[in-house]
Amino acid sequence: MKMPRPTPLILLAAVSLLVLAPWPASCVDPVLIPVAKDPATSLYTILIRDGANHVVDLAGPLLWSTCAPGHLPAAFSCNSTACRDANAYRAPGCRAAAQPCQKQCKAYPYNPVTGRCAASNLVHTRLIANTTDGKNPLRQVSVRAVGACAPGNLLASLPKDVTGVAGLAASGLALPAQIAASQNVARKFLLCLPRRGDGVAIFGGGPLFLLPESATGDLTSTLAFTPLRSRKDNPLYYIPVQGIVVNQVPVRLPAYALAGGGVVLCTRVPYTALRPDVYRPVVDAFDRALGRHDAKVPAVAPFELCYRSSMLGNTRLGYAVPSIALTLEGGKSWTFAGSSSMVDANGQTACLALVEMKGVKAGDPSAAAVVVGGFQMEDHLLQFDLEKKQFGFAKVPFFTACSNFNFTTKGQY
Ligand SMILES: *[C@@H]1O[C@H](CO)[C@@H](O)[C@H](O)[C@H]1NC(C)=O
Ligand SMILES: *[C@@H]1O[C@H](CO)[C@@H](O)[C@H](O)[C@H]1NC(C)=O
Ligand SMILES: *[C@@H]1O[C@H](CO)[C@@H](O)[C@H](O)[C@H]1NC(C)=O
Repeated sequence: MKMPRPTPLILLAAVSLLVLAPWPASCVDPVLIPVAKDPATSLYTILIRDGANHVVDLAGPLLWSTCAPGHLPAAFSCNSTACRDANAYRAPGCRAAAQPCQKQCKAYPYNPVTGRCAASNLVHTRLIANTTDGKNPLRQVSVRAVGACAPGNLLASLPKDVTGVAGLAASGLALPAQIAASQNVARKFLLCLPRRGDGVAIFGGGPLFLLPESATGDLTSTLAFTPLRSRKDNPLYYIPVQGIVVNQVPVRLPAYALAGGGVVLCTRVPYTALRPDVYRPVVDAFDRALGRHDAKVPAVAPFELCYRSSMLGNTRLGYAVPSIALTLEGGKSWTFAGSSSMVDANGQTACLALVEMKGVKAGDPSAAAVVVGGFQMEDHLLQFDLEKKQFGFAKVPFFTACSNFNFTTKGQY
């Protein structure tokens, strides 16, 4: 059978369409949002509208804020996709969420610090942000989103200037999926949490350059990867960890230790928390490997192991202390040097920045074995690829920091 030959005119039309169609290059540029650290709470915040600061919650499944009075609820039925996404996870201990949905959809925003929740309406909203080429902000975009309207008292214990919480979990109404849907970018995001100043979150993927640009190159090329796991009953991000190594020596942990509860990544806690059965062997191994009883000083809460800082050596990667590494699937390691493991508790004292989980029993498989907290993630480039279910991580080079993004706009193009 012969295909009819397209006439030259049609061919010409097709070719000119390809050539002339305004290629929406800027539509697929990733979206940049600066991330700051609140010194009072050690929570991280993002500005996603003029003056509307939100706490970043890696484990948050929603975007919620207090809304202007008179902001009309969106008419989502109980069985709409948005309503199902809003209720994909029940916030722990949220009794209000047990109510059956009647006619109008309700969402149950959750305060990650107080653990309180509230029944709220869903609303249509817009977020203002800049696109980026990974080096500078490019142009302003308005991102369509669905958020929950929470009562003002749900803001208790959050930073003073905050009006809500921006969830970064893998659910449909969290920020990554909403930006992906509105801006047509990939469902993946980069997080570079600052210790001070402004770090960045980039939705849609790399590249990412920090100043000095020519020296760092594209930092996403330095990422190492491991699977990003999830569980049915909660929106937390898990990574599979096989062991913990201090100064290249595996810490002897009970066989069950890391298997059950797993390792969770969490911006709600300032310092990495270890379940008691994991905490004790790791802290003891660190103390032994450092071997500096002469430099020890009384503990500064919430930390246990503290040293006179002037008696510890310094390196380009912080205090000269034993490295602590998580051994991941496939033989890779996520290593924390002194800059990520030691915190200056006061002018003279540096402490091992690990805390023991409270209120959980050793080996309790329903509690995570390790919750990697904010301090340990700072000045690391983290990539959460929700499509490939892959976690990428890299230490930012010692001569730069997450706060060294060039926020000067390149100008209109
Ligand atoms: C929701 O339920 C209504 C009535 O039961 C039905 O007409 C509608 O198709 C449903 N919508 C979805 C998205 O399932
Ligand atoms: C976009 O980037 C410019 C330049 O840094 C900045 O002044 C502006 O506030 C940014 N807009 C948003 C919404 O972040
Ligand atoms: C930051 O970006 C702007 C715009 O591209 C550029 O002119 C400037 O030199 C950059 N700053 C540094 C310190 O490289």
